[in-house]
Amino acid sequence: MDNQGKIVFRPFMDTPEVLGAPEKLKRLRHPLFAWTRLRPIFAQHTSLEHEALQRNARGCRCVVEIGVAEGASALALREVMAIDGTLYLIDPFHLSRFRWINAQKRAAKTAVSRCATAKVTWIDEFSFDAVRSWDRPIDFLFIDGDHTEEGVIRDWSEWHRFVRPGGRVAFHDARIFEKGWPKEGDGPVKVVNSLFRDQPLHNWRIIEEVHSLVIVERT
Ligand SMILES: C[S@@+](CC[C@H](N)C(=O)[O-])C[C@H]1O[C@@H](n2cnc3c(N)ncnc32)[C@H](O)[C@@H]1O
Repeated sequence: MDNQGKIVFRPFMDTPEVLGAPEKLKRLRHPLFAWTRLRPIFAQHTSLEHEALQRNARGCRCVVEIGVAEGASALALREVMAIDGTLYLIDPFHLSRFRWINAQKRAAKTAVSRCATAKVTWIDEFSFDAVRSWDRPIDFLFIDGDHTEEGVIRDWSEWHRFVRPGGRVAFHDARIFEKGWPKEGDGPVKVVNSLFRDQPLHNWRIIEEVHSLVIVERT
């Protein structure tokens, strides 16, 4: 656990972080326990991915995250981006069984508010709805929402045109690595392979790959 009380591991995946997680924390997996602060928020990425996200979003003014969950990656981005920038957090939080409580959304809002720099705009919508009214250049885009192949392609197709030259896009769960969870047939893996490896896309290149994270830059 780090000094801000957030835990950086991916539940139920075969990674050293998961294997090291105390049993008690695994039993308290429901977001209600994060919202009521009976456990830290669960990051759905590894500690090395966490560092890579922060390295690539450092100093950015317009940061967009598609797929927020309990807010661990959102907090990571807010901590390092420009203090006068804006972090747009897109997630409909539709997976909650008790919509009127929506513990995941509450846990995320509490977590992200731990950092006071940069403005935060919550967009409680699906990314394909949010994009309809979007019109700003983006410095850093994190795609971690719908993990189906169609969902990842859709997010890429609808959002990448807003990324300014020199801006970056990070895909999560998009790369196979030793003892990792992604598989050949997973949506993000297939999309990243076809866009950036099989026939590299003009004006885009892979600049960093860490565990399941692939970061591309608009040249
Ligand atoms: C893997 S989790 C995100 C994990 C988070 N980025 C982290 O690293 O801690 C996926 C999230 O995407 C959201 N989601 C699914 N489809 C979406 C879409 N089309 N637009 C925005 N969010 C979506 C889900 O509600 C869920 O909270």
